[in-house]
Amino acid sequence: MRFDILTLFPEMFAGPFSDSIIKKARENDIIDINLIDIRDYTTDKHNTADDYPYGGGAGMVLKVEPIYYALQDITNDFNQDSTNILLTPRGEQLDQTMVKELSAEKRLILICGHYEGVDERIRNNFVDKEVSIGDYVLTGGEIPAMVLVDAVARMLPDVLGDDESKKNDSFYNGILDYPHYTRPREFKGMSVPEILLSGNHQLIDRWRKKEALKRTYLVRPDLLKNTKLTEDQQELLREIKQEIEGVNDNE
Ligand code: 6GU
Repeated sequence: MRFDILTLFPEMFAGPFSDSIIKKARENDIIDINLIDIRDYTTDKHNTADDYPYGGGAGMVLKVEPIYYALQDITNDFNQDSTNILLTPRGEQLDQTMVKELSAEKRLILICGHYEGVDERIRNNFVDKEVSIGDYVLTGGEIPAMVLVDAVARMLPDVLGDDESKKNDSFYNGILDYPHYTRPREFKGMSVPEILLSGNHQLIDRWRKKEALKRTYLVRPDLLKNTKLTEDQQELLREIKQEIEGVNDNE
């Protein structure tokens, strides 16, 4: 999968894309990340990428020309297929469902917004999708672009050492992940739940399912509204509610 990232700050990406799993995915040619400096496509001698807003008001606006010329260049005069994404707090909020959808694409072009915004003509003509990473404002679209690439890349086959591990991720199945423990079994009086040492995989499985549901119910009950639970999970959730609140909604 190919990512082209249009940004005024290509140096910002060096760290996150040069370590760990993303580094390996690049080395193994599973992903190809192409950083494009928007300033290289400015058209005046001062390399101006932004300008004052028409109609007045605070802040600067990212100009349309450099983005246009950058896109023209990297798509062979707009003759190559891609899904173009503008990172902006005005976008649709990224979640695991969107991440899964995006991981099926062949090529994403990510445009990092900056200043107060980008010229609306970019949005209207060259952008397929506007994406935000949450309800707060960042200084630019660079960190959101890193977040998106990281989340999408780890969904691709062979990026994670163990492709099975994704299936237990928080959000993958619409609920949060279960708690994890490793050695030692006792540390300064803090112990590992006995059941995980029991060797009884059926009981362990049930405990994990229940703990995952309990966390979700307590911390992110909104997720449960949008997730279709199995019969097993529904039964466990009834148990949890009874334990926590003495609520019995069996009737
Ligand atoms: Cl995509 N950009 C900026 N500047 N702020 C954000 C965001 C994006 N998503 C959440 N906050």
